[in-house]
Amino acid sequence: MSVRRLADASVQPEGFAFNRANAAWAKQAIKKYPQGREHSAVIPLLMRAQEQEGWVTKSAIEHVADMIGMPYIRALEVATFYTQFQLAPVGTRAHIQVCGTTPCMLRGSEELIDLCKKKIHPEPFHTNGSGTLSWEEVECQGACVNAPMVMIFKDAYEDLTPERLDEIIDAFEAGKGDSVKPGPQIDRVYSAPATGLTSLTDEAIVTGKHHASERVAAAPQKEGTSMPPSRAAKPKTFAMETAPGVKSPSPEKASRNGEKAASVSAPADDEAAADLTEPTVEGEARPRKHPDGKAGASAAPKGKSGKKDKGGAA
Ligand code: FES
Repeated sequence: MSVRRLADASVQPEGFAFNRANAAWAKQAIKKYPQGREHSAVIPLLMRAQEQEGWVTKSAIEHVADMIGMPYIRALEVATFYTQFQLAPVGTRAHIQVCGTTPCMLRGSEELIDLCKKKIHPEPFHTNGSGTLSWEEVECQGACVNAPMVMIFKDAYEDLTPERLDEIIDAFEAGKGDSVKPGPQIDRVYSAPATGLTSLTDEAIVTGKHHASERVAAAPQKEGTSMPPSRAAKPKTFAMETAPGVKSPSPEKASRNGEKAASVSAPADDEAAADLTEPTVEGEARPRKHPDGKAGASAAPKGKSGKKDKGGAA
């Protein structure tokens, strides 16, 4: 875990104020939260301050804290915790965030980092001579399928080679970052296989544009075969908790008496039945084997009295 501190006082500007558009936006953003919960707006406001200034200054943190009535220390905690906030000046034209997590590393991110070291600055978070570019290594950005990749501002540039990243950095340095198409930098659509589709190759089937009769012809069903409804997430056992008589949640939650009246009595606990396998699930009804080798009901735990416990009957 890296140490994150505010930038040196020598680079901190004297004050901060949102510009007119951002001030109006911030006011609306705070209103999204219920009265008394304005602190919840701290992250979007800090992000907007970063978008406006390029990084999060001490005065921006304090300004945001004042806007939402939050103690400075709380806002400072947030700003210094989340790595999305840049606490020192970054490149004015591009801050290159190179993903160095395993999939990107296996696909060549180290070469991208070497390029940044050579082209921008040997150390991350340092700007180049003209202050226009900077870089850092980040963790997975969620585009692993198209590794290796970098983020610049809010856009991802994927399927990179050092040569392509070199061109992209040059474009940003020349103030032409808008001309670079984000996403895959090779001839693939989003995250589709780079070598072409291997399945779902029939566009009409994928888009559901087949005529109904064609669909039947395309996938004839064998006579006598039918697909039973899925039993997923529908356990059927003799256990009390899943008995159909026990409805939960109860429609009557407001009053205790109402809830009681609406409830169905739970079925009587039956040790023997609880320990039986469910024939429709496991194919046969037989006592379950307990780890101690004893068969189901006879292995029920005994209470202090030495008699068998009655289980969890309410
Ligand atoms: S590992 Fe790089 S985007 Fe996920």
